[in-house]
Amino acid sequence: MALDPAFLEELRARTPIASVIGRRTKLVRSGRNWKACCPFHGEKTPSFYVYDDHFHCFGCGAHGDVISFVMQSEGRSFPEAVAELAGEAGLEVPRASPREREAEQRARGLSDVLDLVQAAWVRRLHAPEGRAGLAYLRGRGLSDETIAGFGLGWSGDGRGGLLNELAPHGVTPEMLAQAGLMRVDEDGRPKGELFFNRVTFPIRDRRGSLVSFGGRILGDGQPKYLNGPETALFSKRRTLFGMDRARAALRTARPRGAPPVELVVVEGYMDVIALHQAGFPGAVAPLGTALTSEQMEALWQMAAAPILCFDGDGAGQRAAVKAAETALPLLDINRTLRFCALPEGEDPDSLLRGQGSGAVAALLEGARPIGHVLFDLLTQGVRDPGPEQRAAVRRRLVEAAALIADKGLAAEYRSTLLDRFFETYRRRPGQGKRAGQGGQRGDGRQAGVSWPAGSAPAPFDEAAAAQERMRILTAILLRHPHILPEVEDAYCRLDLPPALARVRAAVMDLAASGDLTDAKALDRRLDEGGLAEERMAVVAARPLPMSLSAPDDLMAVDVVQEWWHFFALLNVRQFGEDIRLDTESLCAGTLDARSWASLRTRLLAWEALRRGDLTPGEG
Ligand code: UTP
Ligand code: MN
Repeated sequence: MALDPAFLEELRARTPIASVIGRRTKLVRSGRNWKACCPFHGEKTPSFYVYDDHFHCFGCGAHGDVISFVMQSEGRSFPEAVAELAGEAGLEVPRASPREREAEQRARGLSDVLDLVQAAWVRRLHAPEGRAGLAYLRGRGLSDETIAGFGLGWSGDGRGGLLNELAPHGVTPEMLAQAGLMRVDEDGRPKGELFFNRVTFPIRDRRGSLVSFGGRILGDGQPKYLNGPETALFSKRRTLFGMDRARAALRTARPRGAPPVELVVVEGYMDVIALHQAGFPGAVAPLGTALTSEQMEALWQMAAAPILCFDGDGAGQRAAVKAAETALPLLDINRTLRFCALPEGEDPDSLLRGQGSGAVAALLEGARPIGHVLFDLLTQGVRDPGPEQRAAVRRRLVEAAALIADKGLAAEYRSTLLDRFFETYRRRPGQGKRAGQGGQRGDGRQAGVSWPAGSAPAPFDEAAAAQERMRILTAILLRHPHILPEVEDAYCRLDLPPALARVRAAVMDLAASGDLTDAKALDRRLDEGGLAEERMAVVAARPLPMSLSAPDDLMAVDVVQEWWHFFALLNVRQFGEDIRLDTESLCAGTLDARSWASLRTRLLAWEALRRGDLTPGEG
């Protein structure tokens, strides 16, 4: 209920605060005001004053207006208190107002409770009862400055001490339960403090407001960490530990020459704190769960390419795949991710302590873009795939790219992943013949798996990818020779590798002599001309576009458009530029007939490429 401020004003005006307070505690006149023994803390001489619109206790600091009096003295939420007072005053609470407002108001009350708890826990860490906790934190290498900066505390032993301490401030068990600091029984009644015998980590939202706590047991007990539950104030999905400090650090100008602050996602509380202390103030961590899309959105509000840091083991890899899958639909050209993998058995905290900040700096420097990591992650363990496995891998790659909502970007990822696929899993010598005898082809190199960290990333081989595309262009022509007139100008300009160039020369000769009738005849003529080996290499059974793998399904495929698609991928910029020039010529009436005929199809291919629906057969 978005309560209209005017309504609240009227409610306050119609609800004399003295009469409401007077029902709970005996008021005596004090000049124009009233005073009483404070209802929120035990006292014998009155230090609780009631003014015309608010109350204040000079003993315990309790303070507020008539609504917060009802909230504090009766443990009501803000809307409940308003409803109660409005009922008494004969006012109708305005309805039809958004729910969020209600939650916000409730949250404001909770926020005060959390602040009181935080102050109490920090105090305890430095009291005798917190001695073991403080020693534990120092023993883990945290300086007193870091401990104070993060507001680390000690929860006490949980035997009701927290409630006793805060009751004078009007904090009730219900409020502690709403703040996520007390457990509740089946009936929703508070029963016992959640945090005890733990060092406490305040969890703050991006603006630095306290929203919950985490707590670590000293030593080896279970559970090692406890996180506060979801509350009106605390959404685990949206919050990252350390995000307030990271945000501030990322916004602060760095001295000239200083390396930029990197936004880094790590796994644990202690990792974040250790990293901040070691001069990596952009470190954050999710709260015991996998990284969510909401957390990614929050990250991108701070930086365009945050680094996700995962363990180097199998579990870390799975977590990285999951994060990548969560991120893909959200990527666009201004929002991406980088990944780095920790040395096996280390977390950032242990790495810092064992090898110092240089090791962490090197790790972050080696972070690789999601596009590079994705291929390695999705083809992990695939060594020498047979046809079924090749098909499965290829589908995995295509599906991953299809997750990207930004169509242009999806197209780029798709072609990059497929290029890498062809490059990595091309047939090895002896397994089949290949077109194009470029130097780097045919070495049978295995998948460039570069996870975990340490091994060098497999470079994406641009030249090999271009050759693969030229092979496909030639293969389409061998399968559908009738399209040659539409594309021959472009095809003839290609700088083909020698074997493909020989095939092209033969095809062009046949076309010139009018002998280019159908695919079967063409095959025969090529074989007769001594090019059987080259021809086989071109059409070798590899994953192929629809027009090649399903020749009977021609209705579903615009072969010419598909040919232009692969042509465009050879040089997307040039392709777009050619189209632009031809369109200008068209307008000027100077376009030659051949270019004119192909312009429409090229435009379609160009459009499809930009939309991301690429070759029809591969979707
Ligand atoms: P880890 O078990 O990897 O521990 O938990 P850590 O961060 O290295 O902790 P230290 O160094 O032993 O103190 C990583 C994160 O997973 C969550 C916490 O957020 C923790 O920081 N976690 C872990 C829990 O929520 N509950 C647990 O019982 C354990
Ligand atoms: Mn650790």
